[in-house]
Amino acid sequence: MVEKGVSLSHNQNPDVEPDIETLRERFEACGQGHVFRFWDELSEAARKRLARQAARIDLEILKSLHAAQASTPASDEIEPIAVVRLPESGGDADRLRRAGQRGEELLSAGRIALLVVAGGQGSRLGFDGPKGCYPIGPVSERSLFALQAQRIRRLRRRFSDALPWYVMTSATTDAATRQFFAENDHFGLPTHDVLFFQQAMVPSLDFEGRLILEQPDRIFENPNGHGGSLTALLDSGALDDMERRGVETIFYYQVDNPMIRLADPTYLGLHAAESADMSCKVIRKLDPMEKMGVVARIAGRPGVIEYTELSDEIRHARDTSGEMVYWAGSIATHAFSVDFVRRVAGAADEWLPYHASAKKIPGVDDSGRPVVPREPNGRKLERFVFDALTAARQTCIVEADRDIEYSPVKTPDVGESVVKARRNLSSLYRGWLAEAGLPLPPAGIAIEIDHSRADDASELRALGIKSIEEAPDIIRTAPGAES
Ligand code: UTP
Repeated sequence: MVEKGVSLSHNQNPDVEPDIETLRERFEACGQGHVFRFWDELSEAARKRLARQAARIDLEILKSLHAAQASTPASDEIEPIAVVRLPESGGDADRLRRAGQRGEELLSAGRIALLVVAGGQGSRLGFDGPKGCYPIGPVSERSLFALQAQRIRRLRRRFSDALPWYVMTSATTDAATRQFFAENDHFGLPTHDVLFFQQAMVPSLDFEGRLILEQPDRIFENPNGHGGSLTALLDSGALDDMERRGVETIFYYQVDNPMIRLADPTYLGLHAAESADMSCKVIRKLDPMEKMGVVARIAGRPGVIEYTELSDEIRHARDTSGEMVYWAGSIATHAFSVDFVRRVAGAADEWLPYHASAKKIPGVDDSGRPVVPREPNGRKLERFVFDALTAARQTCIVEADRDIEYSPVKTPDVGESVVKARRNLSSLYRGWLAEAGLPLPPAGIAIEIDHSRADDASELRALGIKSIEEAPDIIRTAPGAES
């Protein structure tokens, strides 16, 4: 029988039946009474659903949510931030080597937890299911989750079995994600080390600050942003669970990057050596227009400026040698100390404000029929995880190599796409083969290497394989798109 992963409780499930008269009065008093406008036509079950959903919406904070704005920091408040550089861009190789050793010690001592944020709606990808289930392996078509699990199995073998994997879902992705893990036998990982928890949902608002009915018996809500992971870690008891396990540092990453170097020891070692509360990995932006948030100092504090909020002056700034000044693009791979997450999540309204972005939000017309708006009709509200940087007493910003660490899956066919991610993965594996001295397949052949057996070129070399044909279970090839 397939066992289920461990489920951490969350604060989203009040089973109490709310008193409908009081509820309606409260909603009327706040100008939100319209959400009950189809009440008389609803079935008993639909009324219960709506009343339960309404009861858990915090009407008091709706007003401040309505006031949430996209904030564009003034250019004169922004300065570049110090980055720990890679050796090839002049970084101190010795310091990085020492950090690598320290990171390995932390992994061996069970001080690290992995956290994947997988609660997003993945609307741009248009995939029927959670993004993590997307088949991305260039030969095997293994899912994003499966590739990540391969890397985790390798880490566990190399360092320690004490390496829990916390999977954050949302109401949108939870059931399908759990089912996918169960059907795949948790990708060979012990169920007690795969821990699911859910982030909160937050209602979207129309431009007048009113809730939007998605269906006659449902108020439109969206997952509350990747920043919701920090509060969800606290509310679900995941932080307590980490402390019980002796975890000190959380390696945070997004589900949609198949090239993620999970628990990179050098990064973790730098985070520890700097006694950082929060760390960020950055890559060199390809050009000023690349759609990436930039890590910089904002009014003296470290922070990320969203690409939509970058002024032209900052975006295009060059130094005397013609290099981009704000080159440090965030790849949303963070390290957090557990204590810091507790502090920030405990004061979330202070550190993790909601950001609003105009969206087309599906609703119903006066007769309850679905309406898909052509123009944005309201604002989606989200917390951003990188806002926590402002709260950090100490941070560490570390350069990463785009070619081996970053190729997110956002869209099916253009930009940061599936096609590009498969091609980049295949090129990564080709590089490993070359470095390990193995004969290379002809160009145009897609390659995939099982991360659970070798997670970089030196590990591949250590296996002593002389040809691809010799190890078909580790190195797979197939005709296909490649660089
Ligand atoms: P994105 O901002 O790319 O959003 O999330 P998305 O939901 O994956 O895709 P679009 O924008 O709808 O097309 C970056 C990462 O943050 C997670 C996503 O699952 C992804 O790993 N995320 C985002 C959450 O876990 N919860 C959220 O509320 C938002």
